[in-house]
Amino acid sequence: MPTPKNIFICTKCDAQTLKWSGRCSECGAWGSLKEGAETADVPSQRKAGKSGEIKTFKGHTAESAQSELTGVAALDEVLGGLVHGSVTLLAGEPGIGKSTLLAQAAIALAASGKKIVYVTGEESPTQIHRRLVRLAPEIPSSLFFLDLTDVPTIAATIEKERPDLTIVDSVQTLRTPEMNGEPGSVTQVKAGAAILTEAAKKFGAPLMLVGQVTKDGDVAGPRVLEHLVDSVLFLEGDHEHRYRILRALKHRFGPTDQSALLSMTEKGLETVVDPSQELLQHRLSGIPGSAVTCLIQGQRPMLLEIQALTNPAGYGTPVRRATGVDTSRLGMLLAVLARRAGVNALEKDVYANAAGGVDARDPSADLALVAAIASATKNSPLNPRLGLFGEIGLGGELRPVGLPELRLKELKRMGFDSAVLPKGQTKKSVDGINIIEAATLEEALRSCGL
Ligand code: TYD
Ligand code: MG
Repeated sequence: MPTPKNIFICTKCDAQTLKWSGRCSECGAWGSLKEGAETADVPSQRKAGKSGEIKTFKGHTAESAQSELTGVAALDEVLGGLVHGSVTLLAGEPGIGKSTLLAQAAIALAASGKKIVYVTGEESPTQIHRRLVRLAPEIPSSLFFLDLTDVPTIAATIEKERPDLTIVDSVQTLRTPEMNGEPGSVTQVKAGAAILTEAAKKFGAPLMLVGQVTKDGDVAGPRVLEHLVDSVLFLEGDHEHRYRILRALKHRFGPTDQSALLSMTEKGLETVVDPSQELLQHRLSGIPGSAVTCLIQGQRPMLLEIQALTNPAGYGTPVRRATGVDTSRLGMLLAVLARRAGVNALEKDVYANAAGGVDARDPSADLALVAAIASATKNSPLNPRLGLFGEIGLGGELRPVGLPELRLKELKRMGFDSAVLPKGQTKKSVDGINIIEAATLEEALRSCGL
């Protein structure tokens, strides 16, 4: 349907306006507004008028989602293997390791004789080759690449080659000629993913799409594709550190509460078998400013050391630096610590760190963070076999967090002998762990000798 002449469409984000301006008011792109005709989001392939055939459920067997393991432990844990004709989106920030993870899966599957097609739009075949060589001593002969971004051609290739897995790296580089916008725009990303999904379903060929997410607002990231694909996986972590967490945000063929810890090495991403063990391995016990908490990733408990260092501030505003911890939450907790528990670190430089760069921006880590700061300020170490968890409110009260028994069991497994937690959190006792309940932050700190 043609639109009136005076409609302007942004080629980046597809926002429509009646007035031209140099900058798109939606996505902020410069010079992206073009006068144009509206098109549907996804090209319609069927003509109206033909009816479908309705069927009964008789003789229909329950969908047995048969899946094929990829050989990459983290992917298999979180995804439960590749299902026939399934479409998975792997999202994450640039440089986090998406291509590495999928290249590893491609190598492992191809090594077991599967036919894999790696569609490269993001990087040149030379770059992909360099990565593959780094990851495997020998590139299996059934691992192919397709150096193309044209969607109809990719779909036709899937139809002709029927690979056991097609990897498209990334959706932001796909181009569907009949659609508006540049590659990476919402229309292009949606259309490309929709056409390839249709091909994957039709030919029963699993498809993995890579989606780039940018820190500052993701214009055409996983959100716009979430409803279209069967599963959405997120690979997250701090670029400067080696740990990554893979988790499922949506999963049509299995639970979404699975997660896995990975470690970036020179040989690619390695799945960490025992996250608590791995994350605590470098801990020095008996030093002030160190406290251990238990986070829950999906359904999986993970012990983590929170470290703090306080120092008399120099001239001017005191420094607040945090890794894996939210700086504004740190500011709030420092205020609560001073006002409600009488430990004043407000005028000091404060550095807080979730060891290993793991994301500890979870309120259940509040208590360990504050205990680490109090311990650093008082230069008094905590019992190294003590764990703490609980959310802290502005009144200095401790608030319950989810799955306390799971956290306690994990502390026990890792050789801890006591735990401080919010009052009323658990009625069950865990053998071998001394449970110390506290209603307030002050009580909690007192109970651990601070
Ligand atoms: P990459 O998979 O290209 O990230 P993405 O596809 O998400 O943009 O890789 C990210 C980083 O990983 C890159 O800086 C190089 C590093 N890397 C390793 O440390 N070890 C390895 O074996 C490989 C292949 C990459
Ligand atoms: Mg990449």
